[in-house]
Amino acid sequence: MRIATILGTRPDFIKAAPVSRQLAQTAQVEEVIVHTGQHYDAALSDQILEEVGLPRPRVYLTGGSGPQGQQTGRMLEEIETALHELKPDKVVVHGDTNSTLAGALAAVKLHIPVAHVEAGVRSGNRAMAEEVNRVLTDHLATWLYVTHPGAALPLRREGILESAITCIGDVTLDAVRLFTPFAGPERLRAFEVKRDRYVLATFHRAENTDDPACLQNIIGALDELAADCPVIVPLHRRTRAAIERAGLLRSPTLPAPRGIRFLPPQGYLDMLALERFARLIVTDSGTVQREAYFHRIPCVILREDTEWRELVAQGWARLLSPADGQTLGQGLRGAMTMLCPAATDASLLGDGRAAERLATHLAA
Ligand code: UD1
Repeated sequence: MRIATILGTRPDFIKAAPVSRQLAQTAQVEEVIVHTGQHYDAALSDQILEEVGLPRPRVYLTGGSGPQGQQTGRMLEEIETALHELKPDKVVVHGDTNSTLAGALAAVKLHIPVAHVEAGVRSGNRAMAEEVNRVLTDHLATWLYVTHPGAALPLRREGILESAITCIGDVTLDAVRLFTPFAGPERLRAFEVKRDRYVLATFHRAENTDDPACLQNIIGALDELAADCPVIVPLHRRTRAAIERAGLLRSPTLPAPRGIRFLPPQGYLDMLALERFARLIVTDSGTVQREAYFHRIPCVILREDTEWRELVAQGWARLLSPADGQTLGQGLRGAMTMLCPAATDASLLGDGRAAERLATHLAA
């Protein structure tokens, strides 16, 4: 059986890595990887692919940047051509990126059944490109793999057949378990920070970066924290461009940040190390908020709402809207002493063996 995995962004590569390992050990399955080229920078693509040991993509497309529709449309066209040539029996897509939707749509148009990993995730906010991608991909897929039983509820409400839904756990946890042994404390030396004595922050979502007021509120609040504790911020390209565009580092109302350390995008292993030894993680990324939970590090989510509400309900994460600078500043200061539940091995999102279940199910 030939399985084509279609991916294109940093989080897709990380999620696909444990699955590829399992598929490689599964008799009679041949996996071919189609890279859409949505992320094309060495830092966002090649370095991560190498670190997680994904097999070399069989096909490398030129998805690239651009407005949402243009980017998705270009990938759709290119993926269709690639699938024509590869003739897979099944297509696997992960998560909620434009590559995910383009891959699923191209496949169903060619009558190739689609497996969607991380199905059923909903924020309820259709203004987010990722939410639209999730909903549409779920309705295109033949097999929907959910991370936890709660993710099956929206699918049932939307009329998806129970028989199409399988709970396997979160492949992101599999990746964390697989790679954490290579992300030891010695990696902190290069960042000149000490375990439990720094804050790690990442933000790249359009709702935060494209609104100069939100961006200013986030940087202002982090800058206040940085007076007492180093704040490390690996910058996504989108965020760096937005900060430069808004002239925030030169703003008269915001003196040059005192202690924020802006860094280029980091590799996966360094990022895992920075996450697992941080005192607090501040993020708007769906993946980073789950990784914070897997490492049992308190997390502030820079959004009005999250699709991972269980983490908030259980006390591992706190939502803080960047829209109000004063509340954000107070909230972040409070979060430095945030109490989390006692650490246990129980996980809300599976047991780290999701990839194994997925490979077995796909091969059946
Ligand atoms: C995409 C995903 C998001 C995911 C994120 C991980 C969608 C809708 N969003 O967002 O869910 O969390 O990836 O990083 O698919 N750029 C570069 N180099 C690259 C790639 C992008 O400079 O290799 C620039 C682009 O020119 C663009 C910006 O980054 O200005 C955004 O890139 P894009 O891939 O459209 O979306 P992300 O913000 O990365």
